[in-house]
Amino acid sequence: LTPVVETDVLIVGAGPAGATAAALLSTYGIPNVVLNKYAGVSNTPRAHITNQRGVEVLRDLGLEGEVVKNATPQHLMGEHVYATSLAGRELGRLRTWYTHPHFKAEHDLASPCSVCDLPQHILEPILVNAAASRGSSVRFNTELLTFTQDDDGVTALVRDRLTGQEYGIRSKYLIGADGGNSTVAAQAGLPLVGKMGLGGSINVVFEADLTRFVEHRPGDMYWFVQPGVGHDGNGIGVLRMVRPWTRWVGVWGYDVNAGQPSLTEEDGVRIAHQLIGDDRVPVKVESISTWAVNDVYATDNMAGRVICVGDAVHRHSPMNGLGSNTSIQDSYNLCWKLAMVLRGEAAPTLLDSYRDERLPVAKQIVQRAKRSDGLMPPIFMALRLPPASGAQELHDALDALLQPTAEGGRLRQEFDAALQDTIMCFNTHGVETNQHYTSAAIVPDGTPEQPAPRDEEIYHFASSRPGRHLPHVWLTKDQQRVSTFDLCGRGRFTLLTGIDGAAWRDAAQRVAKRLGVPIRVWSIGRGCDYEDSYGDYRALSEVAEDGVLLVRPDHMVAWRSASAADDPEAALSAVLGRILGLP
Ligand code: FDA
Repeated sequence: LTPVVETDVLIVGAGPAGATAAALLSTYGIPNVVLNKYAGVSNTPRAHITNQRGVEVLRDLGLEGEVVKNATPQHLMGEHVYATSLAGRELGRLRTWYTHPHFKAEHDLASPCSVCDLPQHILEPILVNAAASRGSSVRFNTELLTFTQDDDGVTALVRDRLTGQEYGIRSKYLIGADGGNSTVAAQAGLPLVGKMGLGGSINVVFEADLTRFVEHRPGDMYWFVQPGVGHDGNGIGVLRMVRPWTRWVGVWGYDVNAGQPSLTEEDGVRIAHQLIGDDRVPVKVESISTWAVNDVYATDNMAGRVICVGDAVHRHSPMNGLGSNTSIQDSYNLCWKLAMVLRGEAAPTLLDSYRDERLPVAKQIVQRAKRSDGLMPPIFMALRLPPASGAQELHDALDALLQPTAEGGRLRQEFDAALQDTIMCFNTHGVETNQHYTSAAIVPDGTPEQPAPRDEEIYHFASSRPGRHLPHVWLTKDQQRVSTFDLCGRGRFTLLTGIDGAAWRDAAQRVAKRLGVPIRVWSIGRGCDYEDSYGDYRALSEVAEDGVLLVRPDHMVAWRSASAADDPEAALSAVLGRILGLP
C-alpha cells in the first residue's frame, strides 16, 4: 500500500475524544488528519454534562466563551424531580450538579469553570471547527478499515464512503478515538474487561414546549416511577432536557432479551406523552434510537504507536455524566506528550505515562457509573413491589406511602432514603476533580500521600503534591482576577514560584535553553507577576515563597520543592530530564 497522505498524527474519530485531540494538536502546531466515518458530527444530543475538568480543557483551548454561550447553565440543571410523570404526583426532589448551597461553594472553590449542560451535537461542532480552523485536516465520510505499524510509523487503509475509493494514510502515531465499537482497539488487540449490552434504553428526541411544567423547578432530568418501562414490570423513565424547555429526550427502557424493538413515530409520541403525563401536549418526534448500557474498560490503552482514547477504552452508563468528560481528558493527557515527542523535546517513553495515568481512571469511572446504576433498584425494593408487578401494584405501593400508619412511616423512611441515596448518581465532585497520577512523568517530592480529610469520591481535595491537579485559586493582575490555571497549560510546562524565587527563574531559563524545552515562569505574591490578593495561594500552594511548583501542560503538578534548593538548576534539570526521558 502506497500512502497518498502523510501526517504526524492520524486521529480516527471526531467525537469528543478525537475532536479534542485534533484541536489540541493543531493548537500545539502538530500536523494531523481526523477521520469521521459519518457525513457530519453527532446528530443526536447523547452526552450533555460537561463538568469542571471538561470545561477547563475547553478554557485552555480558548473555547470556554463559546461553550458558555451555547450551554444550559448550572442554575437551570439542578432540580431533579422524582414523580409519577411530569404532570403527576411528586415523590421527592434532589439538588444535583452541585446546586445545593453546601456543594455550590465546594464547586465554586475548585475551579474557575462551572459545570454546564452542553449536548454533544453542539459540543462537537465547537471542537471540530476549532480543530479545522487551527490546521487539522478533517475528513468526513472517511472510514478506517485496517492499519499496520512498524518501527517508524503506522500505515492506515481508509475508504472514502462517497466514492468507495480506498487509499493509504501514513502517520507517525495513530489515535484511536473511534468510540464504543472501536475498530482500532480491536485491531490493536487491546484487552477489554466487563460486559456489554446490559439493560436496553430507547431514546426519543422530541420537541414540545414543557415550560409550564418545569420553569418553577428547573432541572436537566426528571425521573418517573412508572409501570411498563421494561425492567421487571416497572421502572424509571426519564425526561432529559436538551434545550430549555422545548427540546427533550424521553428515555424509556426495553428488555434486551426480547431483542431490538421496532419503533414507529406513534410509539415515540406515546412514550413522550406517558412521561409527560398529559396527552394534550403537542409533541413532534425528531428521532428514535436504542442503546444499551455497557460496563467495560480496557486493561491496556496503547500498542506501539497506536493509542486509544475515549469510549474506545471505557464504556459505561451515562450516570454521573463521565463519558465525554473522561474522553476529553484522555486527549488532554495524551496530546502534549505526543507534541513534545514529535518535536523531539521528549523521548517516546514519555508516552508510556499515558497508559499508567489513564488506565486507573478508566477503571474508576466505569466502576463508579456501575455503582450509580445500582442505586436505582433500591427505590423499587423500598416500595416492596412483588416481582413482575403491574400498574395496579405500583399504584397501591405509591398510595401506601401516604398512609399515616407505623407501616406507612417505615415505607416512607426507606423510600425517601433510597431516593436521596441516588444523589451519588450526580454529585461525585471528587471523582471528577481528584483524578491523580503515579507514573514516570511525575517526580515525587518525598512527602507521604496525605489521607484525604473527607470522602474522596464526593469532595474535592486540593493538594499540590506531585501527581495531583494544580489547585485553583484566584490571583489578580492589574486588578483583574486570574485563575492559577490561566497561568499554565497551552502545551507548555510552567514554573510557579514566590517573591523569593529569583534563583528558580534563572535556573528555568538555563534548563529550558539546554534541553530545548520552553518553560514559562511566573512569580506569585506581593509585587510579583501575579498578586495573591486573597491569600488563597499562600494557603493552598503548600510551598514557601522561595519554593516552586512545576506544572505540566495538563495542569498536573509534575514536581515541587517546598523551599529553595541548594542548586536549583541541577534540581530542575534532573526532574525535567527524568520526566521527558532526556539524558
Ligand atoms: P464517540 O462515539 O463520540 O465518537 C466516535 C467517533 O469515531 C465518531 O466520530 C465516529 O464517526 C467515528 N468512527 C467510529 N468508527 C470509525 C471508523 N472505523 N473510521 C472512522 N471514524 C470512525 N455520556 C455521558 O457522559 N452522558 C450522557 O448523557 C450520555 N448519553 C449517551 C446517549 C447515547 C444514546 C449514547 C450512544 C452515548 C451517550 N453517552 C453519554 C456516551 C457519550 O456519548 C460517549 O462517552 C462519548 O461520545 C465518547 O466520545 P468518543 O469521542 O470517545 O466516542
